[in-house]
Amino acid sequence: MTDLVSNGKISTSTLGESVRPDFPILGRRFGPNPLVYLDNAATSQKPRAVLDALVNYYCDVNSNIGRGYYQLSMAATDAYEAARDNIRRAINAEHADEVVFTPGTTAAVNLLADTFGRSAVAAGDQVVVTGMEHNSNMLPWRRLCETTGAELVVVPVGADGRVAIDRFAGALGSRVRLAAVAHVSNVLGTVNPVREMIGEAHRHGIPVLVDGAQAVPHRPVDVRDLDADFYCFSGHKIYGPMGIGVLYGKRELLSRLAPYQVGGGTVKGVTLDEPVAYVPVPARLEAGTPHIAGAIGLAAAFDYVQQLGWDEIQRHDDLLVYAAIEALHSIPRVRILGDPAAQPSGIVSFVVDGIHPYDVGGHLDRHGVAVRSGVHCANVFIDTFGEVGTVRLSFAVYNTEAEIDLVRRALTTVQPGFWTAEHPTERFLAIDPSTQNQH
Ligand code: ALA
Repeated sequence: MTDLVSNGKISTSTLGESVRPDFPILGRRFGPNPLVYLDNAATSQKPRAVLDALVNYYCDVNSNIGRGYYQLSMAATDAYEAARDNIRRAINAEHADEVVFTPGTTAAVNLLADTFGRSAVAAGDQVVVTGMEHNSNMLPWRRLCETTGAELVVVPVGADGRVAIDRFAGALGSRVRLAAVAHVSNVLGTVNPVREMIGEAHRHGIPVLVDGAQAVPHRPVDVRDLDADFYCFSGHKIYGPMGIGVLYGKRELLSRLAPYQVGGGTVKGVTLDEPVAYVPVPARLEAGTPHIAGAIGLAAAFDYVQQLGWDEIQRHDDLLVYAAIEALHSIPRVRILGDPAAQPSGIVSFVVDGIHPYDVGGHLDRHGVAVRSGVHCANVFIDTFGEVGTVRLSFAVYNTEAEIDLVRRALTTVQPGFWTAEHPTERFLAIDPSTQNQH
């Protein structure tokens, strides 16, 4: 057990070292260095309980769901629907049919833009987003607006990395058909007051989609307490498998959505002469064979975090975020962006003045430390700060203060490198001018 006092706050955690044996990959080494994995906002590592759930599914139950009148298929269907109900309980949705499985957050937002968006948004209407959105909660709405003649309204973020609630409320006029907001910023870890934002939107009769991709791994989410109309997240950021995610929607809203993709599993019956009769949600929105094993693995991931306990997880987040702030403050030329200590959410973003973020990321990699550096798929947000990018430390239940100390020691020797010299203000690696890769 470790204690840390920072900014007058005391934090204690029993996680970190004690849960590392649950995660097989953490035993890897890169040359002389053990893996220090601090890119959990991109994806988290998987505990044995989740890996076992996947292997057990494929060893014992694998078959297609809802399509076979034989015992194995019925067992797979039951396991898939049990996973849905497990996730319903975890996010406190009222009904299991309000939980739609998608490949991830990006797929969920695109689903909503192509169904709800196309029915509710027309020329002259507005969709409101914030300036801190990940591209996945910005571009689907931008494309919808471009194709319908609607307007995308971006509520600006202040220099403190926050969206002021009065600025958000000021954008909610009579032409707004939807507001789409991040619960937690993937760049700075800023927590938006989504409950209050939803309340403001509802006063105008405007439904709200919350992008919960970075919130769900760090705090218990209660969609009914938030009164969210739609809430989406990815499984792989909460220790679950890749390729599975969730779109929650209130039953009365989801049930009005037209099918997104059509095909197997979405219809009651098809004739060549009559209109197609579609099944109710959620199956109507899950065309084709879903990621059955993924849903079961995601339910196992929720079981895993619930066994650790949200209080413990949040204490651990506090501990690591305070430790990172203290460590970074001790390094000359390092600037932390935003205020990660305000409501720690496992993310601390920083820049080293005069050194390109890719050079900092590359230097840390040579010490075995995996971090993300660049714009983090949030180009508009990064522009707010006038930076070329940031270096992002993002934490999970298995990270430790010793790992943060290793980052601190590594940063004491960071030097300008190729990127600083050749591309000091660029975000694009122009190896071949005809194939520029964005980072
Ligand atoms: N959305 C993920 C991130 O922020 C990939 O890194």
